[in-house]
Amino acid sequence: MAGIDIEGLATVYPNGVRAVDGLDLHVADGEFFALLGPSGCGKTTLLRTIAGLEAASEGTVRIDSADVTRVEPGKRGVAMVFQDYALFPHMNVSENITYPLKVRRVAAATRADVASRTAGELSLQGLLERKPAQLSGGQQQRVALARAIASEGKVLLLDEPLSNLDARLRLEARTFLKKLQRDLGITTVFVTHDQAEALALADRIAVMDSGKLRQLGSPREVFARPVNTFVANFIGSTPMNLLPGTVTTSGTGAVSVAGGSLPATTGSVPADAEVTVGIRPEYLTVVSGDVTGPALRGVVVVAENLGTQSLVTVDCDGTLVGVTVPEEAEPTPGTAVVLTAPASRVLLYDRNSGELLARQPATVAS
Ligand SMILES: Nc1ncnc2c1ncn2[C@@H]1O[C@H](COP(=O)(O)OP(=O)(O)OP(=O)(O)O)[C@@H](O)[C@H]1O
Ligand SMILES: [Mg+2]
Repeated sequence: MAGIDIEGLATVYPNGVRAVDGLDLHVADGEFFALLGPSGCGKTTLLRTIAGLEAASEGTVRIDSADVTRVEPGKRGVAMVFQDYALFPHMNVSENITYPLKVRRVAAATRADVASRTAGELSLQGLLERKPAQLSGGQQQRVALARAIASEGKVLLLDEPLSNLDARLRLEARTFLKKLQRDLGITTVFVTHDQAEALALADRIAVMDSGKLRQLGSPREVFARPVNTFVANFIGSTPMNLLPGTVTTSGTGAVSVAGGSLPATTGSVPADAEVTVGIRPEYLTVVSGDVTGPALRGVVVVAENLGTQSLVTVDCDGTLVGVTVPEEAEPTPGTAVVLTAPASRVLLYDRNSGELLARQPATVAS
């Protein structure tokens, strides 16, 4: 069972930067795990520390239950794909793929077998004699993956492996990567700064900030129920609305925000508590006609086409609120609209700490 267990891990660079800062993490055997976070939050450093390319300053790394914290990189059973692929320009595809085997003095005939089998798995047949410069970006990316897979590591660490591809190739590569990981069943940690990619690929996601984990959960949990406003802001292709609000009635009640109020499961959050109200544009709806319950009133400022949906920005008493609507229902700027949301989708965060007020009953089944 090649899981990864990280306990109290810190990686401090010689200049004093604590790039990984007291991190606990368990990646299960065979799991496709995505690591997400803003630039500079420590994603690459964490991968490099798991691989042994950076030394852990504190804590332990276990792979397959064995403590590898002080084990040299080549002996950890880890294969890493770097953001820039790091292919050897003077070697052809076959030599690139089997280089890790050559280092281990595996016989040439065996290496040739591995090269042709792996090339088959990654649709690289017919390219084995080419040099990296004679390949497209997507093909180079597959060679880098093939090399990682041919090394038969127990875990695969991928540092933004799709970032050099254009949008269409990237989409193809990500479907391919997901299928490959499923077929091989290899424990994979995948770094990306593209959260749509993480939501699409991963069994679980960790969101990092300043060397620490801010949330860990299934893509659905992290999307629907961010545990703090940092994650709420970071996840989602259209940002979550975060509105200053005040609890009007506790129990099953409502919160008042600029332009009106929204229903909320306030639980034991007391009346008059000042909160930050989190509501995704996808969970707000534009209602026509009369509404009886809590609602927001505003005027449409602008509508942006997102494909089949439009993101409509509504001015609610000076506060801008985003709501997505089907493309054909897009209201014209200047229209007065009324918005509502189900109470189960309205999240309440502590105004000061930004933490989700956990006293609310859980609303999301995973
Ligand atoms: N060799 C180094 N020496 C000193 N500080 C470093 C070194 N490498 C990275 N850092 C710092 O450590 C922090 C984490 O860097 P890291 O490269 O792990 O971030 P990242 O999350 O991978 O960012 P990105 O999304 O931009 O790739 C940053 O503050 C960075 O400036
Ligand atoms: Mg990085």
